[in-house]
Amino acid sequence: MNTLLLKNTPDNIKKAAHILQDGGLVGMPTETVYGLAADALNGEAVSKIFAAKCRPMDNPLIVHIADFSDIEKYDLAEEIPKSAKMLSDMFWPGPLTIIMKKSNVIPNEVSAGLDTVAVRLPSHPAARALIKAANTPLAAPSANLSGSPSPTTAEHVMNDLSGKINAVIDGGACDVGVESTVITLVTDVPRILRPGGVTFEQLKDVLGKVDVDNAVFHKISEDKKVSSPGMKYKHYAPKANVILLKCTDNEYIDYINKNADKDVAALCCDEDIPFLNAATFSLGKRGDYISQAHRLFNELRRIDNVGTVKTVYSRMPSVDGVGMAVYNRLVRAAGFEVIDLEKL
Ligand code: TXA
Ligand code: MG
Repeated sequence: MNTLLLKNTPDNIKKAAHILQDGGLVGMPTETVYGLAADALNGEAVSKIFAAKCRPMDNPLIVHIADFSDIEKYDLAEEIPKSAKMLSDMFWPGPLTIIMKKSNVIPNEVSAGLDTVAVRLPSHPAARALIKAANTPLAAPSANLSGSPSPTTAEHVMNDLSGKINAVIDGGACDVGVESTVITLVTDVPRILRPGGVTFEQLKDVLGKVDVDNAVFHKISEDKKVSSPGMKYKHYAPKANVILLKCTDNEYIDYINKNADKDVAALCCDEDIPFLNAATFSLGKRGDYISQAHRLFNELRRIDNVGTVKTVYSRMPSVDGVGMAVYNRLVRAAGFEVIDLEKL
């Protein structure tokens, strides 16, 4: 299949909408990461997403809408919780996915056998235009090969999926850079299943009480039943081996310089660069969690593109604010391999 790389123009949005209505797959820019979209109400179209990404069938997809009223219009949920409206008023359109009880309209391919549906209203104008033009909600996981870092540019999508999907709309680099925060409203206390651009602190301000799922911080074995199936897989990993270093600023620099070699790279902060004798890939200024999120996946892909890097020593991110999302992705990219220099 020849994959069309389309500029973000009104004509191309129409073209892509027709592809989706015909049951095809389109790479779609969003403010978080690029999504691989199909008509969410067409189970056969949705099953093509799993084949293109080599995604395990038990991992459900997010349904993207263009307006809060679409939940009712397309009859997506059995019931819309009051708290969903509160969250929507504060954070939609934006990087938040809300899980509620699903209706019978949702194909099994989307919900992967669960009785819930994850809904998101993205803020990227091209995503909203595409959903409106297709006149149907769009199921879309991140548009990467399963397990590799999520794509934050159209080029990343082409690198992973060219020849396997019908088209990609180039909407520029993604703003947030990590996937949306996923929160479920079907538990007694609302629970964050995946941290993202909307933070734990912001959600607590609106909802009062919010839990964070164990799988956000800890390794869950693949045979365990988890609330968010996506959390149990090794994820976001470049081909190089990522190791997190828990240490002070000086310990980080000393450790890297002691272990510096041709095949070693440092995933660091701008402030570290002048002191390091290894190849450096910076996530931005120290403590700038928004920049860390924005740059993380791009830097992981850049490290692999060098071709010779075998080991990446990364700083341990903080779990404050958007830092929690960076920590969650990095610790998975590292397969939970952390060296605690304070304890050595
Ligand atoms: O920012 C995003 O969320 C991007 C863009 C494209 O919107 N999408 C994305 O989708 O990251 P994906 O499929 O890569 O991640 C969706 C996560 C997975 O961990 C999946 O297990 C979880 O959401 N999920 C989806 N539906 C669920 C449900 N009904 N219950 C629990 N978890 C669900
Ligand atoms: Mg993904």
